Amino acid sequence: MDAAAPAKTKDAFRNYAAPARDTVREFYRLNHQHQTHDFVRSKRADFLRFDRREMTPWAALDYLNTLVDDSDPDIALPQIDHLLQTGEALRADGHPDWMVLTGFIHDLGKVLCLFGEPQWAVVGDTFPTGCPYSDRIVYPEYFALNPDFRRPEFQTGTGIYAEGCGLDAVLMSWGHDEYLYHLTRDHLPLPAQYMIRYHSFYAWHREGEYGYLLNAQDRAMLPWVQKFNPYDLYTKQPVRPNLAELKPYYEDLLARYLPATLRF
Ligand SMILES: [Fe+2]
Ligand SMILES: [Fe+2]
Repeated sequence: MDAAAPAKTKDAFRNYAAPARDTVREFYRLNHQHQTHDFVRSKRADFLRFDRREMTPWAALDYLNTLVDDSDPDIALPQIDHLLQTGEALRADGHPDWMVLTGFIHDLGKVLCLFGEPQWAVVGDTFPTGCPYSDRIVYPEYFALNPDFRRPEFQTGTGIYAEGCGLDAVLMSWGHDEYLYHLTRDHLPLPAQYMIRYHSFYAWHREGEYGYLLNAQDRAMLPWVQKFNPYDLYTKQPVRPNLAELKPYYEDLLARYLPATLRF
């Protein structure tokens, strides 16, 4: 451990006003402009076929080692470090092994970048499409650039959704959360599926928006998503975990829940 690296306080996270990384603001301009309902439909039709390649979970993790997330104001370390930090914090607090695993893989969907996708179509906070934008989403002003902003059927009432339809029926903005959910859902318990699928949906799990979309299952799962969030957010520290030391534990954990290879 690097004793010289100061730990961040909670107020210092998700500070989008800090001018530290202009790439974050530019990222959200592109994300909010281009993530239309139709865009989400086309990406789901394409990527949820899972016909690109077969990889072991570790091969996918190795690729993440080369990726730095432009949407994240809190970390400029390779993604594998963030995943190890999240998993290790959950393990240290005695959470069940499926939750440690969830922490360790929750951003694995960022391999979408491997398939040539721009970061605005992979990372960042997510939001429902086809219904009004909440002003509690980060940088809401950029939604004025989105063509859906001028579609009254999307921007009035509950949009295209019936009240209480449930989040499963909602087309969220496309990215690593939705992708990894579909890739792993058959192997993980329901709370883990929610943690993966909605961990970037801050307008819901932090701001309490979009209550009209929820069903009973969503409301029952919200505390799990909220329990998971601090481990994703507050464990981001500029100290690199020791991959070689931790690898055997996580290899065993992966083998217990996931197949030897996954279809991406
Ligand atoms: Fe994420
Ligand atoms: Fe994360």
